[in-house]
Amino acid sequence: VFHTPELTPTQNAADCAIAIDVLRATSTIATALSSGADAVHVFSDMDKLMHQSEALPPEKRLRAGERGGSKVEGCDLGNSPLDCTPELMTGRHLFISTTNGTRALQKIQASPTVLAAALINRKAVVDYLVEHQPETVWIVGAGWEGSFALEDTVCAGAIVQSVAERLGCSLEELIGNDEMVGAISLYQQWKSNLLGLMYHASHGKRLLRLDCLEDLKYCASLDTLNVLPIQREIGTLVKHAV
Ligand code: MLT
Repeated sequence: VFHTPELTPTQNAADCAIAIDVLRATSTIATALSSGADAVHVFSDMDKLMHQSEALPPEKRLRAGERGGSKVEGCDLGNSPLDCTPELMTGRHLFISTTNGTRALQKIQASPTVLAAALINRKAVVDYLVEHQPETVWIVGAGWEGSFALEDTVCAGAIVQSVAERLGCSLEELIGNDEMVGAISLYQQWKSNLLGLMYHASHGKRLLRLDCLEDLKYCASLDTLNVLPIQREIGTLVKHAV
């Protein structure tokens, strides 16, 4: 059963919890791992990121920081998935802190299985869910500073719709709450024009003002990357071995 829960720190964890930040943290994390990063370490706090990344020599680490869509001074990278090239990522650990996405991952980190999903790796997420069939799944959209985001919601809908098709069951059998019904409806309406939806999204507009159209195009493409970021230990994501 799929929920998009209102999370409180005391809530029990789901069997599987999925964080979505299509623009752009989970798209960036998936790309970094697909490009050969050994692991991605997520932080909400920049000072902690700087401190903990000191444990690795500079040639083994990269620091990525984003606030308000822009790169944080002193970091190697901002939060563009397009910067995550194999040349930069291979054999390195990426330490990343973003405005909302890394916080969403931290909120669900107590679940036994934690995944990072985006439109680009939707199929890899669905493959995992179809194979493992966890009883309860939380899908948590990062949103923007606590508010709803179109791009994360449409991705949640894309995941659940595809799971239903692959398992041959009705959506009613899978849907746990009203938010999920809305997510599926949004996906059904926009599935052939996901980039068009990004233009309506408030964070899409923010990124366009920051000259990031190529990021929007990349993040709006569906099933282009066969990689599943999975939490190995609290705060650390690695590529799930298929
Ligand atoms: C976030 O965490 O809020 C986003 O990933 C922001 C961004 O686009 O860099």
